[in-house]
Amino acid sequence: MSVSIRFLKAAAHPEQYPPGRLPEVAFAGRSNVGKSSLINSLVGRKGLARISRTPGKTQVIHFYEVEEKFLLVDLPGYGYARVPEGIRRRWGPMVEKYLTGRTSLRLVIFLLDLRRTPSALDLQLKAWLDLHAVQTCFVLTKADKVSRGGRQPLIRQIADVLELPAADLIPFSAVSREGRRELWGAVLRAVSAQAYNY
Ligand code: GTP
Ligand code: MG
Repeated sequence: MSVSIRFLKAAAHPEQYPPGRLPEVAFAGRSNVGKSSLINSLVGRKGLARISRTPGKTQVIHFYEVEEKFLLVDLPGYGYARVPEGIRRRWGPMVEKYLTGRTSLRLVIFLLDLRRTPSALDLQLKAWLDLHAVQTCFVLTKADKVSRGGRQPLIRQIADVLELPAADLIPFSAVSREGRRELWGAVLRAVSAQAYNY
């Protein structure tokens, strides 16, 4: 069975958001970490969320509606120096307003690159989510780029920096689709949806 999903809206300000009648799961993380790729991989639609080799592609908040039951929300990434200054300055207030003010938000899926030590900005976002008690699920992207054997030390190091148990970090690959089932589980639990056969 394929998932019915449609793009609803791109929005920068709360008054432009779609109505918050359905529960939402948002995807956050640095620019280029693979947010848009992960959304496409989850729903099995290659060109849905825009992917680019040029970081900073997703510059406003993109809302997608799934099965008319819940929304997936692609947040713009942070930490890419070549994004124009004006856009960089807008990022903080835009994402903060969404994360702190959106009452239909149920879960943030926080993406980190499996091969990179979390940055100061990653830790700032985590502190923010902790402070506002936003339910968060951590995903380590681009798992296909690291051999199975090389993976454990990297996961442990990221877990240490985040001060989380390593078992809480879900390795994911948009290429091999590893981690997809586990992630769907987390999404569906958060939105209390029936388990579809995705
Ligand atoms: P912004 O929109 O700039 O915030 O980036 P993003 O987080 O949406 O990243 P995006 O999905 O556009 O992916 C960035 C780059 O990483 C693209 O070249 C993707 O093809 C690549 N990429 C994403 N996920 C994976 C993955 O799991 N494995 C591999 N090998 N490459 C990936
Ligand atoms: Mg993107």
